[in-house]
Amino acid sequence: MILQLALPLKIGKWHTKNRVVLPPMVTWAANPDGTITDYDLKHYASFQDVGLIIVEATAVSPEGRLSARQIGAFSDDHLPGLSRLAETIHAQGALAAIQLHHAGGQTNLENTHGLPLLAPSAAGHE
Ligand SMILES: Cc1cc2nc3c(=O)[nH]c(=O)nc-3n(C[C@H](O)[C@H](O)[C@H](O)COP(=O)(O)O)c2cc1C
Repeated sequence: MILQLALPLKIGKWHTKNRVVLPPMVTWAANPDGTITDYDLKHYASFQDVGLIIVEATAVSPEGRLSARQIGAFSDDHLPGLSRLAETIHAQGALAAIQLHHAGGQTNLENTHGLPLLAPSAAGHE
């Protein structure tokens, strides 16, 4: 039996060198403002021979943060670090994806740096 994991895969216009996928796994290592740290870059550079890397749950708004150190994608200030992260992943020959995330009422004021929680139903499960 051929080990399918080692074979390349075509998904629409995208090609992966193999079928190994890194699922999103939070590290809570971003700066408090959500920008990428050197640790983040080293962490994602450490996964070799992976076809697709899905970057950890990344906050789409400041009041949706699940950790005070969650990576953010809600400000132009986040773009340079996120671009470097994508370049780091591409340099390993992997496709880069990212999990967009909002914690809704499942977070607290410490994680949101004091911003009121935002949820479709009563917020505040602290
Ligand atoms: C440290 C850690 C961080 C995780 N972070 C995320 C995440 O950011 N997003 C997500 O959807 N799942 C996250 N998960 C879940 C994993 O991606 C994965 O789905 C899960 O660990 C696989 O199920 P299992 O642990 O029961 O084998 C995380 C899991 C762990 C252990």
